[in-house]
Amino acid sequence: MKRRDFIRTGVAGGLLTGLAPLAGAGTDPLESPLAGGVFYTAAHPGRWARKVGGHAPRITTAGGRVKVVTKHGMHGYKHYIVKHQLLDADFKLIGERMFDPDKDEAESEYALPAGYKGRIYALSLCNKHDLWVTAAEV
Ligand SMILES: [Fe+2]
Repeated sequence: MKRRDFIRTGVAGGLLTGLAPLAGAGTDPLESPLAGGVFYTAAHPGRWARKVGGHAPRITTAGGRVKVVTKHGMHGYKHYIVKHQLLDADFKLIGERMFDPDKDEAESEYALPAGYKGRIYALSLCNKHDLWVTAAEV
């Protein structure tokens, strides 16, 4: 991956993009061997199996907009959701939001590119329980 692409997609997006060759063409990156070890999903929670409900981001879509919610408390800077990112099917960054645990909930909203159809990835980063990814089709 070129540095420019890594920066454009963000660290987490770059991680998923880097997984594509490992997963093989046509293979779901969320089913790669790194799921459950390097990043986590509801299906592959790895060492955080008891943390799925509060960490796997939930995606809802309506009218070209996407809402991402992580049902995780915000306990000051000791334990909180640091950020959300939304990526398209090619792991290009659609949007991201950093959270202030003293005033924000772990919720973010994004406008999809006009006419976008395909897969989206919501990424949610907990400062204690690592990176979680959920995919949806729009
Ligand atoms: Fe957490």
